[in-house]
Amino acid sequence: MLRFEHVSLSYGSQQILDDLSFEIQEGQMAVLIGPSGCGKTTTLKMINRLIEPTAGRIYLDGQDITTKDKVELRRHIGYVIQQIGLFPNMTVAQNISVVPTLLKYSREECDRIVRELLDMVNLPYEQYAHKYPSEMSGGQQQRIGILRALAASPPIVLMDEPFSALDPMTRRTLQQEVRALQQKLNKTFVFVTHDMAEALDLADVIIFMDHGRIVQMAPPEEMLAHPASGQIQDFLGKFIDLQSHKELTAADFMRTGVYTVSARKGINECISKMQRHNVDTLIVVDDQARYQGTVSIADIRLTGHVVQTIEPLIRCNTPTVHAEDNAKDCFDQLISSGAPYLVVLDGQGQVAGIITKTSMASAMAEQLWG
Ligand SMILES: Nc1ncnc2c1ncn2[C@@H]1O[C@H](COP(=O)(O)OP(=O)(O)O)[C@@H](O)[C@H]1O
Ligand SMILES: [Mg+2]
Repeated sequence: MLRFEHVSLSYGSQQILDDLSFEIQEGQMAVLIGPSGCGKTTTLKMINRLIEPTAGRIYLDGQDITTKDKVELRRHIGYVIQQIGLFPNMTVAQNISVVPTLLKYSREECDRIVRELLDMVNLPYEQYAHKYPSEMSGGQQQRIGILRALAASPPIVLMDEPFSALDPMTRRTLQQEVRALQQKLNKTFVFVTHDMAEALDLADVIIFMDHGRIVQMAPPEEMLAHPASGQIQDFLGKFIDLQSHKELTAADFMRTGVYTVSARKGINECISKMQRHNVDTLIVVDDQARYQGTVSIADIRLTGHVVQTIEPLIRCNTPTVHAEDNAKDCFDQLISSGAPYLVVLDGQGQVAGIITKTSMASAMAEQLWG
């Protein structure tokens, strides 16, 4: 549907776009994302020939766009930008009909289109068609801008950060509406944003750019699973973590460096270790560092005077899990058992760490907020 072949652009010695090649299929929502100044807007403007490449070719439906008349080309490409620029002296209906009128659609046809489009975004024709832009909110104006871009039923629609000036709620609603419109009308969209949440929500395919180059082009799931660079990983940030929660294990949530003691140690040694580290239990291990149980200061105080070593005081009532056990299951077990912590064992039965409510909470915070 849309194909870039080795497209480059330089202004003097400054290379703005560097050998862009990609293809977007018909009916796809492609989202261009990347840091500010990476060339997203420039790439978009090349599609409707607001900017011409210094090298390479761009094909729309197999046709080189330089073979078409610019004005004619633009009439068949929808274009929405942040400052939509509705005509202030035209009503909503007149604004939406701008391109169909230029294309000499009949008045009845224009009216039908206006009704149909307003209907799709739940703005009743009777109420809105004859309003002027100044009588509407920013979000409503932006909706009209989108409808205007769709009015002549162009096969491809370009959107350059159309929602970046809107509040989060309105933005969310408009994203959903755009996605619904795109799917209903089965149009190809090229959508520019710098907001990864928006990209992940809308895109069939994400094109990540940096310094005028494509770093990665992939569907959202694939980009989340295999980000091609550290920079993309940073952009994906919390979204990667959110989606990988299901694969988190006990090892991700445990505290290592736990205080252990051999079963053969005497009571006094045990007490002084507890005091030194300011803990009220120690994990008891055998000579191979395998888990035996726990010993607590309360038990020592109660019966310590009649025993020599801690061996008779070892309790085995602390739940154990394995390092590769599912983190969510561990969490459930920690809460439901009422135990102060879980002991995490490795494949050899050795103590790998413990999971406390605090270690769980800080690991979750880390996952969510980095
Ligand atoms: N007319 C111009 N002359 C020189 N440099 C320009 C011009 N227009 C844009 N640029 C440069 O091209 C680069 C890409 O800009 P742009 O496509 O607007 O980036 P984005 O939309 O990704 O933020 C930027 O470094 C910008 O400074
Ligand atoms: Mg831009």
